[in-house]
Amino acid sequence: MTSIRTQVGIVGAGPAGLLLGQLLHLNGIDSVIVENRSREYVIDRVRAGVLEQGTVDLMIAMGVSAGLCRAGLRHEGLYLSFNGQRHRVDLADLTGGRAITVYGQNEVVRDLIDARTTTTRPLYFDAERVSIRALDTSGPIVRFSHGGTEHDLHCDFVAGCDGFHGICRPSIPAGVQTIYERGYPFGWLGILAEAAPSSDELVYTYHERGFALFSMRSPTVTRLYLQVPPDEAIESWPDDRIWEEMLERMRTGDGWQPNRGRIIQKSVTPMRSFVAAPMRFGRLFLAGDAAHIVPPTGAKGLNLAASDVLVMARALREFYEDGRTEWLDRYSDVCLRRVWKAQRFSWWMTSTLHRFPDESAFDHQRQIADLDYLTSSRAASTSLAEQYVGLPMEVSFEAAGLRG
Ligand code: FAD
Ligand code: DHB
Repeated sequence: MTSIRTQVGIVGAGPAGLLLGQLLHLNGIDSVIVENRSREYVIDRVRAGVLEQGTVDLMIAMGVSAGLCRAGLRHEGLYLSFNGQRHRVDLADLTGGRAITVYGQNEVVRDLIDARTTTTRPLYFDAERVSIRALDTSGPIVRFSHGGTEHDLHCDFVAGCDGFHGICRPSIPAGVQTIYERGYPFGWLGILAEAAPSSDELVYTYHERGFALFSMRSPTVTRLYLQVPPDEAIESWPDDRIWEEMLERMRTGDGWQPNRGRIIQKSVTPMRSFVAAPMRFGRLFLAGDAAHIVPPTGAKGLNLAASDVLVMARALREFYEDGRTEWLDRYSDVCLRRVWKAQRFSWWMTSTLHRFPDESAFDHQRQIADLDYLTSSRAASTSLAEQYVGLPMEVSFEAAGLRG
């Protein structure tokens, strides 16, 4: 058993853990990141693709934006498609020039791992039997095994950035947190295809047969999603069936449809809304998916991970600079304010664009009217746009120790 000492022990090297590690580094605060998967697994995992304006600005201010600025695709609008017609929502025009950037989560993670490596601060991949203890003392411990050696990582604080299925949230004693949860009677089948994107902007489609989403990863790779029954077996979706269904739902009256290509990845994602509050127990602070999950329709998951850790960085900076705990004490409340607004938006986007098994003919017509209103009223489009490009972060970059 070896004993290691750091200021902040970070569990999980997803977007939350890696962004936090870099923010702390920029403030001269020491951390050790412990990840139970391999470097390759973490980088190859295909997930989100849409970065809010604020997340892009944050990565620029942190100095981790070289790849993002080179390969990220800035989108100043998106399409909502229904009744066979696409309607463009001009995000930039409606929000005073703000936009979203399409840049795969795996690229974000790769860039952040490179930045971490440059700092030479520790990042353990392939950690086994990760556990946390003494959370309600001033000396919490992250225990893990690496390469056959047991380590006790002694910290001032533990950042639980280990995602929805991690060990941090379940380490909080029963009764401390309230769980708010909502399921959905469908999931998303997602594919990556070797095909040039046939639209410069995302297309969210509401169709009789269910929701479909057109996105992309690069000038040669298209990313597409289909609403499917929950827990759908991917084996029941051979490639030909996927293409037939995608084209059926997405094709519009003017002949627009996605380009076909070889499918290089496919998987099914369940949908849920989940919040565990408060996001803190003693010296353990949860961030990102470890504390909350949104259905992916609003593209908010990764962006919420970024806004959580910005608040955490500010709180830890104040603690280490002048011993103040005010922001540590406010951490959960400050994060949850933004989290709940993103929860509401994600639930609303999901409800507006999906078909529900128990819906009536009335519900269906109301949904079409919702979309008609959304795309024909500037007030309604503005509400969508300002939430889609991202509501303001609760903390300024300066307060978190960044210049920009
Ligand atoms: P994660 O990215 O989950 O990172 C947590 C890290 O902790 C992982 O690397 C994990 O391996 C590690 N870990 C887990 N357990 C342990 C342990 N015991 N010890 C050490 N490390 C541990 N969002 C969107 O906006 N759009 C999408 O299309 C989208 N698709 C998604 C598809 C899937 C299958 C999933 C699971 C999520 C998707 N999301 C999407 C959500 C988005 O990817 C997440 O919100 C985002 O990854 C959150 O980042 P995080 O760092 O909080 O958690
Ligand atoms: C993507 C994912 C989303 O959840 C979304 O709402 C938009 C785009 C994507 O993977 O590109």
